[in-house]
Amino acid sequence: MLIKVENVSYSYGSQKALNNVSFRVREAEKVVILGVNGSGKSTLLKILNGLLFPDSGDYYFDENKITKRFLSNKENNLAFRKSNCLLFQDPTTMIFNPTVFDEIAFGLKQFSNNGVNFKVERWAEKLGIKKYLNEPPFKLSGGEKQKVCLAAILSLEPKVLLLDEPTANLDPKTTGWLVDFLSELNSTTIVATNNISLAIELGERGIVLSEQRSVIFDGKLEELLEDKETLMKANLIHTHKHRNHSRNHYHIHYWD
Ligand SMILES: Nc1ncnc2c1ncn2[C@@H]1O[C@H](COP(=O)(O)OP(=O)(O)OP(=O)(O)O)[C@@H](O)[C@H]1O
Ligand SMILES: [Mg+2]
Repeated sequence: MLIKVENVSYSYGSQKALNNVSFRVREAEKVVILGVNGSGKSTLLKILNGLLFPDSGDYYFDENKITKRFLSNKENNLAFRKSNCLLFQDPTTMIFNPTVFDEIAFGLKQFSNNGVNFKVERWAEKLGIKKYLNEPPFKLSGGEKQKVCLAAILSLEPKVLLLDEPTANLDPKTTGWLVDFLSELNSTTIVATNNISLAIELGERGIVLSEQRSVIFDGKLEELLEDKETLMKANLIHTHKHRNHSRNHYHIHYWD
């Protein structure tokens, strides 16, 4: 089993962010984490990426228990970072290099100096940002910054890709490209989103976090989409009152 999350809880001070969360992920599985704002999706991805550590419960990656102590070993750290990459929800938190080229090259250079130029150009080309390679990243739009971060992570070809709302800033064409790219990729992917209509494009399995920050569904996304009660409970759909031809009525909304 590639990933084991066992009874994990996490709080920021008195603010609970994850409440007794457990699940397992096999190699090459495509998992979508769903939940409303504040349900703990980003916190969970940060734990999976070894940036935060559970207050209680355990996280195993490739049979190793991921703890501060385990990752303080340089070799363990490098091996873990090479195979487990997180795309942050906010691309600006990831960007710190003087040029787009350096930004994409940064991760690659940590592991090997071989073929860096080639890889940077190839991924910049795929994401349509080659013309910006010599520009400072802060000059780019939000979606363009997202593409730089995506290029930086995809170029590492990690075993596990953790993507936090990867399409939030992307235009429809790039979203389509990413969806197709991910569906053909052999890596394990765990993608957080609160867009249920996109979820079905990103994986077969869905894990839903409730507003109480615990898992209320883990199974086939197809079944989840039929399970109106769970969707309502997680507030992923809601009844919405609006005026239509001067009559008020309620219906279920999927916001997309
Ligand atoms: N750095 C932080 N300090 C304090 N509380 C935090 C911090 N980050 C998150 N939280 C709190 O933890 C809870 C879970 O937040 P998290 O960012 O994991 O949710 P999310 O599901 O990713 O939300 P969104 O859909 O808005 O991205 C929220 O109540 C949030 O206020
Ligand atoms: Mg988030």
